[in-house]
Amino acid sequence: MTVPKVAILISGRGSNMQALVEQADGRYEICVVASNKPDAPGLRWAREQAIPTFALSPKGIGKPAYEASLDAALREAGADYIALAGYMRLLSDDFVAAWRDRIVNIHPSLLPRYKGLDTHARAIAAGDRVAGCSVHVVTEELDAGDVLAQAEVPIEPDDTPDTLAARVLAAEHRLYPAALKEFVTR
Ligand code: GRF
Repeated sequence: MTVPKVAILISGRGSNMQALVEQADGRYEICVVASNKPDAPGLRWAREQAIPTFALSPKGIGKPAYEASLDAALREAGADYIALAGYMRLLSDDFVAAWRDRIVNIHPSLLPRYKGLDTHARAIAAGDRVAGCSVHVVTEELDAGDVLAQAEVPIEPDDTPDTLAARVLAAEHRLYPAALKEFVTR
């Protein structure tokens, strides 16, 4: 049986990328880590693991040219799927359509609550008792594709957005690899 190949897209520290790499258990293979931020700390870690990387800033070349290069790099690497892991750019409708039902993302809230940014501050401000994270299929609409898996964590009375983020992140690191394994073998 051939192992499905997954490209990971990051913009920053890449802790979810690291969890996806470390918990693959042979059920998928990370074929490339790509970033729109050439100085993303996660890229360095990927290189240390001898994982192929691709780094390109869209600045100065425009979104269509940037995405065309990204798409070519992912196809060159043989990617069957794309996992977004703290990738902080919106993918164009054309890019999403070209990879329809093959892009997943992890979002730090219990979707459909708190799409977009500042999820932890918004959950605390709303007086929620429970927060969490969601793995979902990426569609043209932000954070709106089918939810594949969710994990809940409690919100403690003295939580700040930072303390809550740390608790949610630990849950993300367990949830994302498990959800990706199921997704690539549907
Ligand atoms: C995580 O909170 C994830 O849910 C969100 O962006 C953050 C990425 O963190 N999409 P990291 O780069 O994976 O450490």
